Amino acid sequence: MPDRNHKLQRLIDATEAGIQARAAEYPDAMLLAARIFLTLKETSGSSAKSKPSRLAACNHLEDAFKQARNGPEPIPELTDALAAIEPEFAWSRRPESAQAAGGFYNSHANAIIVGKGGLETRQDVLIGISLVAPDIQYPRHHHPPEELYLVLSPGQWMQNDRSLGLKQSGDLVHNPPNVWHGMQATKTPLLAIWCLWLGN
Ligand SMILES: [Fe+2]
Repeated sequence: MPDRNHKLQRLIDATEAGIQARAAEYPDAMLLAARIFLTLKETSGSSAKSKPSRLAACNHLEDAFKQARNGPEPIPELTDALAAIEPEFAWSRRPESAQAAGGFYNSHANAIIVGKGGLETRQDVLIGISLVAPDIQYPRHHHPPEELYLVLSPGQWMQNDRSLGLKQSGDLVHNPPNVWHGMQATKTPLLAIWCLWLGN
């Protein structure tokens, strides 16, 4: 086991448990999950202390946590792990989001947990979190790395310009490389963890 900050290890373990709890329903995503969490068990990156910072959208965090704590096991434990380490996050906006329509710029917050700019710096794994204020759309985007989202509070999701419908706390969204995807908060804030493999 790598020597890692206890709060961060707890959050990583809880995220893995949340994903593993749904392994049977999302078999296509499990190779990615295994690669990410095995790598995090084998090695740790360098611990980084970026200055914690919050954004206006973070005012929705408590409500999002409340939604997530209503989720199935092990999402309440994951939420507690997240709440314990959240004060250390450097929340930021999505790059170039100032031009996005619908008030997105001031109505969302992202934080990197593991990876460049996160609490543990490393090149091979990227884990972060997105918070979206009620009724706000997180614009469609795509990226080469395959990605796995773990939904913490309910919201609408889309992939390839098709609606995936309402995803509930504990659901997964698996995005193959370069697939367009986005989400839309309902009357409550949307909160989700994302995991990407950046290694070779
Ligand atoms: Fe994404």
